[in-house]
Amino acid sequence: MKKVILLAVCMIVAFSLVYAGSFQYVGVNKCKMCHKGEKKGMVFEKWEKSSHAKAFETLKSKGEDKNPKCLECHVTGFNAGGYKEGEANALDFVNVQCEACHGPGSEYKNMSVMKDKKLAIEKGLVMPTEAVCKKCHNEKSPTFKGFNFKECSAKIDHTIKK
Ligand code: HEC
Ligand code: HEC
Ligand code: HEC
Ligand code: HEC
Repeated sequence: MKKVILLAVCMIVAFSLVYAGSFQYVGVNKCKMCHKGEKKGMVFEKWEKSSHAKAFETLKSKGEDKNPKCLECHVTGFNAGGYKEGEANALDFVNVQCEACHGPGSEYKNMSVMKDKKLAIEKGLVMPTEAVCKKCHNEKSPTFKGFNFKECSAKIDHTIKK
């Protein structure tokens, strides 16, 4: 009997590990559905106006939009389940989208989960800290001139006024 229970526990642990690793990028259009418009705090519109939403265009204008050394920070989920060169849906993941900061959304994007912040975080939602920004805002960026979290956060602020 003990062995059966142990086996069951192992299976649950294994399943959770696989499941935890299975958060998929869904692309900004999925977030847009629920996060655009005056009533929703103009979150999508604010992002759309930010330079994050033009990061791929920036590479294109330099003829560097196929260079993996640049794409890494100028698209979402590069070679990690988001943007992948040559994939039919690659364009869904161009630019620095919501999920580059908030984590892949497949498991938290449903209304029932989104309404419960704690559950959403369990299902992959990230409320970004400075460390998240510094995955891209660092010396590996050819144009890096330092990064001030406070000032830069203010520039991309999309707090919902209540
Ligand atoms: C089906 C609608 C829906 C979709 C799709 C959706 N959201 Fe949400 N989201 C909500 C709602 C509603 C809230 C507000 C919860 C509240 O305040 O009650 C929310 C809250 C959030 C929050 C703030 C969490 C908090 O409570 O402070 C973040 C961040 C967020 N969403 C990011 C995203 C991202 C990124 C995507 C796309 C991957 C996305 N959402 C897709 C409905 C949605
Ligand atoms: C996936 C990589 C990535 C992440 C994560 C990221 N950024 Fe960026 N950020 C960029 C890129 C690339 C640009 C330049 C876009 C362009 O101009 O084409 C940029 C530009 C900016 C700018 C505009 C710089 C200027 O002065 O024009 C601000 C502000 C900024 N980021 C703030 C943040 C903050 C705050 C965070 C974390 C909460 C963050 N970023 C996370 C990649 C990233
Ligand atoms: C480590 C992440 C990272 C890599 C790799 C990266 N970038 Fe960027 N890029 C950024 C960030 C972050 C910014 C915002 C400004 C800054 O802090 O450098 C940016 C901004 C830019 C800008 C706009 C500068 C401006 O202020 O107008 C250009 C152009 C650019 N990158 C081109 C490139 C090219 C070309 C490559 C590849 C050779 C590349 N980047 C690789 C992160 C990166
Ligand atoms: C460059 C990183 C970055 C990107 C891109 C980004 N966010 Fe955020 N987002 C943040 C940060 C930082 C916060 C504040 C976190 C906190 O308060 O702890 C935040 C907060 C939020 C909140 C909570 C607002 C509130 O008032 O409670 C929502 C909702 C949200 N983001 C949705 C989105 C959606 C949807 C997108 C894409 C359209 C997006 N974010 C793109 C970094 C980002």
